[in-house]
Amino acid sequence: MTDKNEKLTDPDKDPKVDQLGEGKVPNELPHHSWVFRHHGKIERNATLLLGLSLAVVTVGGVVEIAPLFYLENTIEEVEGMRPYAPLELTGREIYVREGCYVCHSQMIRPMRDEVERYGHYSLAAESMYDHPFQWGSKRTGPDLARVGGRYSDEWHVLHLEDPQAVVPESVMPKYGFLSDRLIDGEHVEDLLTAHAAVGVPYSEEMIENASADFTAQADPLSDGYDALLARYPGAQVRNFDGQPGISEMDALVAYLQMLGTLVDFSTFTPEPSR
Ligand code: HEC
Repeated sequence: MTDKNEKLTDPDKDPKVDQLGEGKVPNELPHHSWVFRHHGKIERNATLLLGLSLAVVTVGGVVEIAPLFYLENTIEEVEGMRPYAPLELTGREIYVREGCYVCHSQMIRPMRDEVERYGHYSLAAESMYDHPFQWGSKRTGPDLARVGGRYSDEWHVLHLEDPQAVVPESVMPKYGFLSDRLIDGEHVEDLLTAHAAVGVPYSEEMIENASADFTAQADPLSDGYDALLARYPGAQVRNFDGQPGISEMDALVAYLQMLGTLVDFSTFTPEPSR
């Protein structure tokens, strides 16, 4: 018993321990150091190990979680962010319905390669009105967080109808059927109400006028133009797919064209860490 133990704890007799020779550098703490002697006790006693692990995790958890109860808001407020206009929100629903998030992320990470390719890294505030968020976890195609304004509407329509016509090696499916599906915004009020219920600050006025705003965004000549822009500053108003009537294609392109365009990064300076 004592012999066996001695063999285990005596580094000179342990074949697995590097014995210092000429010109060698030690790469382990000496076995007889204080840490090893005491840590050995924990390693040999499962209950003690469990108890101490629990204590460490508890302290770590409290340090991370407790401040969240006292902070009013963990999202840094950013000028320019507003809830989606009804047509954009409808486009977002189509984006979710068609599973675009399966191949596209919407979160630019603060790393040089991403920032050079996609633009300023995403801010938490930019997805604060997204329910559910569309950060995604897979990039079969490029990140779309700032795709707004990068291509023309015609490009988007052509690309969605037949991605391979624009990018021959693309594996993106065709979504041409969206052009044939006309929508009238009849239920868009309910959509806004649902989003208001989960915390998006849609006012009663916005909900009441949802259907009118929906139509106005696809028609620059309508009377509702000014009211729409007053409610949703910076909303882009035009016939997105170039076809008469409002189709799912209009809504989806309206959504894509506003992605990442609300915050003006030429004037934005991040707050230093709190
Ligand atoms: C099977 C995976 C897949 C799905 C699903 C998919 N895409 Fe794509 N997407 C791609 C790939 C790959 C590319 C890059 C090649 C290309 O441009 O077609 C791409 C490119 C894009 C681009 C151009 C981005 C850029 O910066 O060049 C847009 C916009 C886009 N997709 C939108 C959508 C939308 C909207 C949907 C849902 C209706 C969708 N995609 C569904 C794979 C996918």
